[in-house]
Amino acid sequence: MDENKFYVSYNSVHKLVKNLSKQLTETGFDPDVIVAIGSGGFIPARIMKTFINRPIYAVGISYYGIDKKHKDHPTKIQWIDEVQSQLEGKKVLLIDEVDDTRATLAYCVGELLKFNPEEIAVLVLHNKVKDKDVEFPVEIKRYFAGMQIENVWIKYPWDADDIELHTENERIMLEALRKQGKELY
Ligand code: G4P
Ligand code: MG
Repeated sequence: MDENKFYVSYNSVHKLVKNLSKQLTETGFDPDVIVAIGSGGFIPARIMKTFINRPIYAVGISYYGIDKKHKDHPTKIQWIDEVQSQLEGKKVLLIDEVDDTRATLAYCVGELLKFNPEEIAVLVLHNKVKDKDVEFPVEIKRYFAGMQIENVWIKYPWDADDIELHTENERIMLEALRKQGKELY
């Protein structure tokens, strides 16, 4: 177990998404479509569909190369033409797993705005509280984060090799946090 990492199990992802779906309802945001930013946004988006039952469109944008080094700018690695025609006049819920530098998210928002949606709301499981490299365009009026987190590396379950060990590591981490008086879920 790496003490400097923040472990997140599938169950916790599910709980965060369920909680986020309640936030959507509370704020009266009722999206027409979900756009998932792959690959990290795919599983959260699918879970969200369980709660709000909207169609999911997938886009792939990457800011890290294979060697894990930042490229100069985010690039589209998958972009479905169909997405474009489906967004005009629609309320879009854009889902990704993490808001880190915000570069990928802001780039994606900018590209999606070209298709004249009525509104785009951004939703992430985790927002890292740090200075962001870029800000969202002013068109973004709604932003939902399942959890605010300090600038640490988050270990998502879909990256785990041994999922039992990963889940156990989260349990140990949450127990330690509980002893410090922090109840997360
Ligand atoms: P942002 O707009 O969402 O803030 O993203 P940014 O450009 O800063 O970089 C995003 C890439 O870095 C994403 O990978 C994201 O998954 C990954 N990332 C950033 N912080 C963390 C973290 O704490 N844990 C993990 N596991 N990943 C993190 P990507 O290139 O979009 O690839 P993919 O993994 O989504 O396929
Ligand atoms: Mg991602």
